[in-house]
Parts: sequence; structure tokens; C-alpha cells
Amino acid sequence: MEKYYVTTAIDYANAAPHIGHAYEKIAADIVARYQRLCGKKVFFLTGTDEHGSKVQKAAIAAGFDSPRAFVDETSSKFKEAWRRLLISNDYFIRTTEDRHKEVVQEVFRRMRQKGDVYIGKYSGLYCDGCEDYLRETDLVDGKCINHQRPPVHSEEENYFFRLTKYKEPVRQWLLEQEAHVLPAGRKQEVLNQLDDPELGDFSITRSRRSLTWGIPVPDDPEHVIYVWIDALTNYITGAGFLSDEEAWSTWWPADLHLIGKDITKFHAIYWPAMLLACDIPLPRLVFGHGFITVEGQKMSKSLGNVLDPVYLTEKYGADAIRYFLFAANTFDQDGDFSRAEMIKIANSHLANNLGNLLNRIVTLIGKNFTNAVPDIEAEQKYLDLADAKTEQYCQAMNVFEFAKAIRCVLDFVDEGNKYLADQKPWSMFKEYQETKDEAKLREAGRVLVTGMKLVKRAAILLAPVTPDLSEKIWKSLGYTESVHSITFNSSQFSHEITPGQVINNPGPVFPRLEEKETE
Ligand code: MSP
Repeated sequence: MEKYYVTTAIDYANAAPHIGHAYEKIAADIVARYQRLCGKKVFFLTGTDEHGSKVQKAAIAAGFDSPRAFVDETSSKFKEAWRRLLISNDYFIRTTEDRHKEVVQEVFRRMRQKGDVYIGKYSGLYCDGCEDYLRETDLVDGKCINHQRPPVHSEEENYFFRLTKYKEPVRQWLLEQEAHVLPAGRKQEVLNQLDDPELGDFSITRSRRSLTWGIPVPDDPEHVIYVWIDALTNYITGAGFLSDEEAWSTWWPADLHLIGKDITKFHAIYWPAMLLACDIPLPRLVFGHGFITVEGQKMSKSLGNVLDPVYLTEKYGADAIRYFLFAANTFDQDGDFSRAEMIKIANSHLANNLGNLLNRIVTLIGKNFTNAVPDIEAEQKYLDLADAKTEQYCQAMNVFEFAKAIRCVLDFVDEGNKYLADQKPWSMFKEYQETKDEAKLREAGRVLVTGMKLVKRAAILLAPVTPDLSEKIWKSLGYTESVHSITFNSSQFSHEITPGQVINNPGPVFPRLEEKETE
């Protein structure tokens, strides 16, 4: 069985999750569920990044005695948000886990043994929003462009990693025929960064005087390992490096590191360089997705528009949020979350198009065939259309074009709706009742069986995006096992439906969303 290992960035445990964090976790979940549908054995890792000065300061500001108690609380908020959003991660890693500390220290040791670590003086400008040193040329009006505040001057003794030794091998990896960094524009940015002579060796520790909340350097506890070295290493800890030989040999190298565009440099330059120094194979692909704004504006505490995904799931349900984010945005570009748009799109696509098609079919089969699917051939051209669209769906999913993949499903659902509207099986049933002409009954049955097969295929293909809705549709079509157990190779995937299969009518599977006037 082929394997697929997908990871997300691990979120800073300095505050509760927002819709931007959710966007990435849902995307990774869509990938993981799609790869399971392809029949692969999947390991899906997400988690929280819990060390560093940003988290330490947030703990103090929140009045906690120890950062540990603070990160316990914040990481559980992330876990809860992902549970509500139906994220199917196989493991949730926390960088404060003991086994992770051991792996980080081992990575440090290996780099040191290779002669790639040396001690030196660092003097520079540090932005704790980025958890990174900045150059004068990175600033606009003296401020970090990402965090809109001036960095702080810092001078201390640090350990450095010889990145310069690995710039050329990393460039070679980036230039290999098989793309290792996507989208292509982002890969070009990384290649340009590698060309910059100012991108040199970088500091990989902080002195204990400036940072206590982190993993100590082995044999030199006066120094604490830089949070990015600690964070990136989560991907190998999660795969069982040093702790689980069998898991490690199964899962590594990662097939996909899904991350936001702002942290591409760390994943496409620092991380491969670190792995090369440790003689660990490089990941297959790093994908840097776009950023989500809220109602057209960048989220910020000062604007008060930081959107809480838990609140959104309570109000609208996970399926609507998941569906809207990925049907309405292009994954490799920046996108937006707007409530009014979400309500409009979810109602139109899920309640009207898909929900109505299902509803008409189960209602008419219920009334006219006493809930049992009649033994009648479907109209082949619609099944062929669904197969062709399934192929296009896979092509789009394979390159993370989620909106395009979703559109393929809607295309054949739309055709199904048009087919029903043209054929009017309800009129055929009426005619049958009046004339007792069996041919009319069969004609109507044929329309319904065809429609049902389209809905069946739609439920399977949308399952990675709208897991709950797909399951409801699936169950209403009379299946007992879960839609999430279906793979392209399983018999249930085909257009076959057992005649006599008993459908049931659960009422609207996607109740229309309404914006309450008081909110
Ligand atoms: N802790 C680091 C990542 C370490 S990975 C080894 C970090 N954390 S973060 O909490 O700031 O961001 C976590 C992820 O969320 C990143 O991939 C980041 O790009 C993504 N996003 C943060 N805000 C976002 C949006 N507004 N929209 C989409 N993704 C966003 O960076």
C-alpha cells in the first residue's frame, strides 16, 4: 500500500486559533482525506509550536506563573478547534513533549559533529513576531513589515549553523525536475533568496539570559536552541525519528509540508539544509499557500476582526465553512472569508443544487417505489459525464487546485438537476397513475436512478471537503458503512447500486443558513 505523509505548520501557542490557522488545517485535511480516497495509507500531522520568546511573553502577559501551564491551555484550544472543524489528523504534536526535546538535541548534536555549528558573536535586529533576525533592508519605516513594529537590537554569543555550506546543494534540490517547492512563483522567490550573498550562516541559539523558554543546547545549558530549529524538527519527531523505528521507516520522507507563504524561507532553505547536515532525506514537497483576509481586511487584534473558528462552527457548522473557504478561494493565492458570501455560496451550492437533487430523488423514490431503488438501467451519458469529471477532479486535487476540483463535482450535479427539470419524473408518475402505463413508470425510475448515481458520486468526491454532509447523503442513499471508508478501488465507488437498496429521507441534509438579525 502506498503511503502519504502530510504535515501542516505547527501554530504558535501564544493565542487561540484564528480562521487563517484553520484554513491551512482544513486544506491539509482535504489532502489527507483525498489521499485516503486514493487508497493510500496516510499519516496526517499537525500541532503547536510552544517555545520561544513570543510564547513566553504571551504567558507572562496572560498572568501565568509558568509558560507550561499557559501552553497547556492554548494547545488544547487548537485541539478543540480542529475537532470541531472535523480535522482528521492522526497525531497532534506539541514541541514541549519529551520525545521531541530529545530529537531536537540529537539534531543539534549531529550538526555539531558534522562541523556545521560554531560559536560566534551576534549583533543585530530581532523581531520576536517573526522569531528571526532582520536586516535593515527588510524594514519599512524602521518596522518589520509583517508585524508593524520595530525590531529590538540584540547582541550576544550564539551558536551558528553553516548554511553557506548547504546553499548550493539546496539550490540543486530546488532545481531538480520534480518540483520540491510550489507554487512556482514561490520557488523562484526562494531561488532569489539563495542568490543573495547576505543570506549567510544563521544563529541557531539564544543565550539563556535572553530566553529561558526553550530546549537547552546539549552540554552547554547556558544556550537555548532557536525556536525555528525546534519547530521544524517536529516533522521528524512526529514521524517517529528516534522513538519508533517502524513508523520512521514507513513515513519519512514527508510527501507534503503544507505551510503559509510567509514561512517559505524556513521550509525551503533552512529545513533542507538542516536535514542535509543530519544525513536525513529531504521532504518531497513544500507548498506555500496564500493568506486569508476577513471581509477584505488583514486580521489584527487592533481591528478586532480576528475570527474564531470555534464560534463559526457553532453558528454555521463545519461543512459550510470548509466548503466556502475552498470553493471560493484559489489555494495558491490570497483569499477572503466573508460571512455574507459564505451564506450565499453554501446555500446555493449545498442547499439548492446538491441538497435539492438528493431531496427530489429520495422523496420520489420514497413515494413511488416504497423507498426501494428500482431495478432500472441509468442513462449512460450522465454516468460518462460523472466519470470524466471525476478524472478532472483528481487532476485538480493532485495539484492542490481545490476550487477547480469542487467545480467538477458541481458540474455534474448541475447537469443532474437540469435532467430532472427537463424530464419531470413527477409528471411521469402522475401519468402512470392515470394510465397505468408501465413504460412511464420505468421512464421515471430511469431518471431517478440516474440522478441517484450522480448524487452518490458527488457524496464520495465531496467527502474530503464536506465530511459530515457527505456522510448524511451517503446514509440517506441507504449505505450502512461510512462514506469515508470508500476508495477509488472499492466496489462501492462504481456506479453500481443494488436494486432494492432502501433509501431514506432525512429531510434537508444541508439546512439553509440564515444570518440572524441580532448578530
Ligand atoms: N510556528 C510557526 C510555524 C512553524 S512550522 C515548523 C508559525 N506559526 S503561526 O501560528 O504564526 O502560523 C501557523 C501557520 O498559519 C503558518 O503556515 C502561517 O502561514 C499560517 N497562517 C497564519 N495566518 C494566516 C492567514 N491569515 N491565512 C492563511 N494562513 C495563515 O508561523
